[in-house]
Order: sequence, then C-alpha cells, then structure tokens
Amino acid sequence: MGSGLICHFVLVFLLTIVSAKIAPLYTEECRTGMYPPRGPTFKGAVTWYTVDLDLPPSKRWTGVISDKKADLVTMIQAIKDLADSFVPSGKLIELVDRDLPLIVNTLPYPFNEEIKGIAKDSGVPLGEVILFNIFYEVFTVCTSLVAEDADGNLFHGRNLDFGLFMGWDLKNKTWTITEKLKPLVVNVDFTRNNRTVFKSTNFAGYVGMLTGIRPHTFTLTMNERFSLDGGYIGILEWILGKRDGMWMSFLTRSVLENATSYEEAKNRLAQTKLLAPAYFILGGNQTGQGCVITRSRVLSLDIWELERKLGRWYVLETNYDHWKEPLFLDDRRTPAMRCMNQTMQANISIKTIYNVLSTKPVLNKLTTYTTLMDVSKGRLESYIRDCPSPCSPW
Ligand SMILES: *[C@@H]1O[C@H](CO)[C@@H](O)[C@H](O)[C@H]1NC(C)=O
Ligand SMILES: *[C@@H]1O[C@H](CO)[C@@H](O)[C@H](O)[C@H]1NC(C)=O
Ligand SMILES: *[C@@H]1O[C@H](CO)[C@@H](O)[C@H](O)[C@H]1NC(C)=O
Ligand SMILES: *[C@@H]1O[C@H](CO)[C@@H](O)[C@H](O)[C@H]1NC(C)=O
Ligand SMILES: *[C@@H]1O[C@H](CO)[C@@H](O)[C@H](O)[C@H]1NC(C)=O
Ligand SMILES: *[C@@H]1O[C@H](CO)[C@@H](O)[C@H](O)[C@H]1NC(C)=O
Repeated sequence: MGSGLICHFVLVFLLTIVSAKIAPLYTEECRTGMYPPRGPTFKGAVTWYTVDLDLPPSKRWTGVISDKKADLVTMIQAIKDLADSFVPSGKLIELVDRDLPLIVNTLPYPFNEEIKGIAKDSGVPLGEVILFNIFYEVFTVCTSLVAEDADGNLFHGRNLDFGLFMGWDLKNKTWTITEKLKPLVVNVDFTRNNRTVFKSTNFAGYVGMLTGIRPHTFTLTMNERFSLDGGYIGILEWILGKRDGMWMSFLTRSVLENATSYEEAKNRLAQTKLLAPAYFILGGNQTGQGCVITRSRVLSLDIWELERKLGRWYVLETNYDHWKEPLFLDDRRTPAMRCMNQTMQANISIKTIYNVLSTKPVLNKLTTYTTLMDVSKGRLESYIRDCPSPCSPW
C-alpha cells in the first residue's frame, strides 16, 4: 500500500503543476484591512457547539453529529472515492471496514469510546470513522504563529491547510477533500461542571485537536513535520501491534484538557513519545511565553522561544525546521515573516494577524480555516476561507 500511495501522490503532484497552469507560489503584497473578515476570501462563519466532558465519552458528540451527519457522510464518501481511484475494486475500503474496527479498543480512553459513539450517532461504519480520525495525522500543511505585542499580550494565529494531493478539481481549481472539509469545521466549547475547560476549532467527527485555547492559560496548535521517520510508519506500527507512542492529536487534546499551565503543557508536548514527528506551537499567558517545539517521534529536537532581548517578538512555523531553508516549491514562511516584519510589534493584534494569514500564498487553495486566539481575553474565533484564483495550490 505504501509505495502505491506515494506513486499516486507523485503523479497527482506532477499533474497539478502541469495542468493547473498556476505558478506554484502565487505571491502578493501584504494584505491590509482584511478584518473583520468579509469578501471573497471569507467563505463563512463557524458554528459553536458545547461538548460536555461530564457525559460518558460515547454520548459527548451526539449534538455535533446530529447537525453534521450529512456532511460527514459526504466527506467519507469522498475519501472512499479517492481510495478507489488508486486501488480500484473497493478492496481498500473492504479492508478498512473489516480490519480497522479491530484497533478501536487499542486506542486510549476516552478516544476509543468517543469514536464508537460517533460511529453509532452518524451511522457511518466504525472502520471508516477510525480512518477519518487517522487522516489528519498526515498531510496537514499549515502556518502557525505566536506573537507578543509591545505590552506583553500574546496572540496566536493559524491557517489550517489540508488536502494536499487529494483530488485536484481541474475545472474549479480546488482540492476535492479540502472543499468537503469546510462544512465540517466547528468551534467547540469543552465544559466540566458547566464551565469552559478549553475551546477548539475542529472537524466534526474528529476527536483529536489541531487548534485550541485553554482560556487565560495557554494556546496550542499542531503542524505536520515531514520526515523519513514520519507519517505512515508509526501509524502502521500501531495497526500491526507495536503501540508505544502517542497519537499526536490525542496528545494535544489531552494537554488542552488536563494541563494547567504553560510550563506543564510545554513539558508534556516536548517529552511524550509520539507516533510521528510534529511541530507544536504553544503560547502562554505572559511575556516571553511562546515557542515552537520541533519533535521527532522520541524526543524534542529543539524548542525555539520568544526572546525579547534578541528582538524575537514572534515565532512562526510552517512545515520546515526553523533552522533550515524551506523547500523552494513550498515557501510560505518567507512571505509570512515578511508581512509580520512589515506589521511591526507595535501594531500586532488579532486584526493584523488576520491580514498576514490572508496574504497569498500563506492563504492558498488548501486553506480550510483561519483561527485567531487571544489568551488573556480567553477568546477563540475562526473563519472558513476561500482562495480565489489566481492562488497557489499549496
Ligand atoms: C465546481 O463549482 C461549481 C460552481 O461553484 C459547483 O456547482 C460544483 O459543484 C463544483 N464542482 C465540484 C466537483 O466541487
Ligand atoms: C448545567 O446547566 C444545565 C442548564 O443550563 C443544568 O440543567 C445542568 O444540571 C447543569 N449541570 C451541572 C453539572 O451543573
Ligand atoms: C484528563 O484527565 C481526566 C482525569 O484524570 C481523565 O479522566 C481524562 O480522560 C483525561 N483526558 C484526556 C483527553 O486524556
Ligand atoms: C497564567 O497561568 C497561570 C497558571 O499557569 C495562572 O496561575 C495565572 O493566574 C495566569 N495568569 C493570568 C494573567 O491569567
Ligand atoms: C524578519 O525579521 C527577522 C528579525 O529581524 C529577520 O531575521 C528575518 O530575516 C526577517 N524576514 C523577512 C522575510 O523579512
Ligand atoms: C503601525 O502603526 C503605526 C503607528 O501606530 C502606523 O503609522 C502604521 O501605519 C501602522 N502600520 C501598519 C502596517 O499597520
């Protein structure tokens, strides 16, 4: 399956470059005046839901799923069609339906129970809900940043870019899976005793976390880190029975739910053994608390922190180690940093961060949503995005 998959992606990659006839990185001047979100790059608002952590895990997502069932079924059908397009005959989905349910009870609590509840509430076969939950552990290419203003307030912004190489629609110049994902974006308020514990921007049907805030304490996002030791290997090992690492998005969820300080969050993110490499972007609640943690599966390779004395008032991560050059075909870091530098620390705010995240190619055809977080106000807001042509495919 591995090499077939890779061949498929290489093929789609080449087809995309050749047939899309767009420069891979369409670049523009730094945007201004984009906030409040409106116009062609703003596709819609995100609905809020409450998930009550006092309920048994299998009942927590019932409200979300009852609203989003139809969109989830459409999305999973799109994944199946994609699978059929490179392993025709339906064999792959047969395997997913037959064999993946066997691993559900190897997943840690409460994720196993929540996934079973989602399958039951949506009527989607359990194996396919598990596949949907594995899906985001690979191929999320994003931009995340934490910035400190002149008064020491911390802001955290991110674009979630997903669906690379997953079905390019030639006519509409869109990624099939990216488009199907947009209706599934939800904001969730996780509560205990009727009080907010943390909030996140999420995909309905997905129990891990990629973006979230623990109000007044810390903010957290996760970006994929490509590596030879990455992606499939750890996940495949898990399925085959070697289960000593943690799923990355389960760790972020667990940290958001249970870590009570920036330091505790940082230590857990740096030290927990993982299934695949990752970048964790973490912001705290006071001056100097912001970092990018670069992870291999077993250890933290680097923690890059805000440093007022060095004039480092923001840290920004796409999908490349910060001490290396990004891949020239995929340099969203330089344009994003150029716009941050132009904005200057004195002007940094939710508004100006939205400008940076709205500038192509930081905004691109994969961008599903933008989330903005202000830790001291306990605020999280998110927006569904569109990138009208001309626009970079990634
Ligand atoms: C392409 O865009 C048209 C018009 O916006 C829409 O009706 C159609 O469903 C889109 N096609 C796909 C495959 O998304
Ligand atoms: C939470 O609030 C609802 C009404 O808003 C109430 O019915 C319920 O008992 C409360 N639960 C707890 C644990 O306080
Ligand atoms: C958080 O901690 C509680 C209490 O120990 C535990 O029941 C819960 O499963 C934990 N949550 C996650 C996501 O690990
Ligand atoms: C920052 O977080 C710590 C917990 O780590 C908390 O004790 C403190 O009150 C928070 N500070 C602010 C200003 O919210
Ligand atoms: C932005 O500013 C930082 C700090 O001065 C500098 O290291 C970096 O090269 C600048 N990047 C761009 C793209 O302007
Ligand atoms: C930054 O703020 C200064 C003064 O407040 C203003 O003159 C300038 O236009 C602002 N720049 C941007 C990029 O918003």
